[in-house]
Amino acid sequence: NEKDSTVVVVLGASGDLAFKKTYPALFGLYKNSFLPPNISIVGYARSSIELADFRKRVSSRIKATDQEKSLLEEFLAKCTYVSGKYDDAESFKQLNTAVDKIQSTTLGRKHRVFYMALPPSVFIPASQGLKQHVYAHDGNNRLIVEKPFGKDSESSRELATRLAENWKEDEIYRIDHYLGKEMVKNLMILRFANVFFGAIWNRQYIHNVQITFKEPIGTEGRGGYFDEFGIIRDIMQNHLLQILTIVAMEKPVTLDAEDVRNEKVKVLRAIKPLTASDVLLAQYGRSKDGKEEGYLDDKGVPKDSVTPTYAAAAFYIKNERWDGVPFILKCGKALDQQKTEIRIQFQDVPGNIYPSVMRNELVVRVQPEEAVYMKFANKQPGLSSTAVTSELDLSYARRYKDVKIPDAYESLILDVLNGDKANFVRDDELEAAWKIFTPLLHEIEGKGGAIKPEIYAFGQRAPDGLDAFVAKHGFRRDASY
Ligand code: BG6
Repeated sequence: NEKDSTVVVVLGASGDLAFKKTYPALFGLYKNSFLPPNISIVGYARSSIELADFRKRVSSRIKATDQEKSLLEEFLAKCTYVSGKYDDAESFKQLNTAVDKIQSTTLGRKHRVFYMALPPSVFIPASQGLKQHVYAHDGNNRLIVEKPFGKDSESSRELATRLAENWKEDEIYRIDHYLGKEMVKNLMILRFANVFFGAIWNRQYIHNVQITFKEPIGTEGRGGYFDEFGIIRDIMQNHLLQILTIVAMEKPVTLDAEDVRNEKVKVLRAIKPLTASDVLLAQYGRSKDGKEEGYLDDKGVPKDSVTPTYAAAAFYIKNERWDGVPFILKCGKALDQQKTEIRIQFQDVPGNIYPSVMRNELVVRVQPEEAVYMKFANKQPGLSSTAVTSELDLSYARRYKDVKIPDAYESLILDVLNGDKANFVRDDELEAAWKIFTPLLHEIEGKGGAIKPEIYAFGQRAPDGLDAFVAKHGFRRDASY
């Protein structure tokens, strides 16, 4: 409604996530006219910062072309800042006064979105303070929360219970930013809008699935946070497991958020909980040329830490579609490159008569250089009759030249503003995800002595043990791969 107003409150506004992701995403939406009319953005954090300085910091992280400069000025004019504590009623009352003032002239309804870009330690008090003192009584309230959602089943349940004391599930938007990525959003269309993929998407035709996340950077000053969580919680339990779920789920009855998430939960419940024998754990050391520091050199990391910065794990889904098909999830920091991809490797051709052919593969490259490509056998052109592996290649940079792929956060914040929850994590989904990982995490961090990770050099393609690990789970490496 044109007469309504919306205030987005960014809590943790002086923190890294807010400057790096939240504000640039809000600007991205603003400049493309995707923000609702009468919108204001209120930053809230502990540090007392002058408004002009705050706006300067926001704009320093936003890339704007010369033509966009005036739009950026308009956007910044909508951004204000309130400083206050996360566990103090008075502070939240002041925040409410500021928000009320902004919405005082609104003729329609007054909506509020609360974006909690906050460390877990202040999560609960902040959510309470917001509910008690800043909640909109004439409009929608939406609470955006970011991981970590606990550290295992028990802590996650505790967090969920405390959050539920003040917020209805319906109002909570749990972000997994991978669900906002273009190619992750493409997965359901690939699967459910193409008759040929639909037909072969099962254990009869698919041999194994590999989902890979690689990053060429180390912990970069986040060692303190990272050491408490490790790569399994940082990447695998959320981002990669979400991708697995979409690759494996049944077709939802409709695209409605509850229908989609019902199917996702079913997949998660059919996955066997992991044990240490299903995983490969590794930690990065100094680079071979000595220039990049090892994980243990990070100041926030204890010298004897055994926290993995790399993990590979094989998942098995016990249902009719997937029984026996390994889903191999791999993720690591401080590797040779940035790459996230999904690689579906098909079964061997039955009764094959061409000795040189490789297995078919369908690859969805999530980032960088978004692409969908299929490896298939083709006759070597010319007089030879040899079958060679070739590619049907849909590279986005070539095919969709003029389209700018939006940042995941833009897409997700837009969903929140529209009240679409399909790309957010539901409470029972989170619980099912933790169930898969909790026995493993307790085992590897166990009282009986934590499991020591293998060491790899910063910048390596993968830990030495990886090739044997994936081969053990049935992946066959194509010579051209
Ligand atoms: C975050 C992790 O969730 O995802 C980071 O906490 C990681 O450790 C990041 O670097 C990767 O996201 P992206 O979008 O850069 O692939």
